[in-house]
Amino acid sequence: MEIIIQPDSRTASLIASRIIARVVRERTNPALGLATGTTPLLLYKELIRMHREEGLSFVRATTFNLDEYVGLAAGHPSSFHSFMDRNLFDHIDVPRDRIHIPDGLAADLPAFCRDYEEEIRSSGGIDVQVLGIGTEGHIGFNEPSSSLASRTRIKTLTQQTRKDYSGAFGGEENVPYHCLTMGIGTIMDSRICLLLAFGGKKARAVAATCEGPVTAMVPASVLQMHPRAIVVLDREAASELKRAEYYQWVYAHKPDWQKH
Ligand code: GLP
Repeated sequence: MEIIIQPDSRTASLIASRIIARVVRERTNPALGLATGTTPLLLYKELIRMHREEGLSFVRATTFNLDEYVGLAAGHPSSFHSFMDRNLFDHIDVPRDRIHIPDGLAADLPAFCRDYEEEIRSSGGIDVQVLGIGTEGHIGFNEPSSSLASRTRIKTLTQQTRKDYSGAFGGEENVPYHCLTMGIGTIMDSRICLLLAFGGKKARAVAATCEGPVTAMVPASVLQMHPRAIVVLDREAASELKRAEYYQWVYAHKPDWQKH
């Protein structure tokens, strides 16, 4: 695991944007795994800026989002679909027919999930998967106790997650109970996993992810088994890490050719 601690979410997001931009520039048909939530917002802003000002083109890219609520139409203002349109897709040149987001209204949800896996495989696999983290350590919507080998499927949200998202739905009673999410096995197949976490609210989950045992009770901890997991944190999210100084020292001494 590479753990990068930055003074704030802005500089952390700039590092993440450079990792993604490199993949977009270097791969012939880059496949990007994308996430929702407040965490990747600055990253998406920077990618939009790079597109406008530096000619970073997504025209050869394919995207796969991690998850979506069951029962919400793509156009629902709280759907992850409309979040992605508003915060990224409406502002870059990724072709619409190469954007993949789980369909929470699919008539046959298990069949949809199987097809989603197949589409990821036939795109050549995800080059870089952006991840946020839930306060209980979830990635995508793989809540604690999710199988570490799971594939895209339907899941039930925890009470904590429903509470965390009540704001976006104008009250907890309006938050859906179910979602579709890439599985942990699906995420682990990505060539690079790029986990971002900002703010003190994430500090406990981050410490358990990076320094605790690998356990299904903290789904993000499985990233310890990934050959290229990069964790980018602001100071607050890193505040409960025991070896924070060591990670900063490692980053400060990275050889130039390895720098992001
Ligand atoms: C949701 C998403 C996750 C995301 C998490 C973090 O649960 N399904 O993919 O990582 O939110 O949200 P935020 O970035 O708003 O803290």
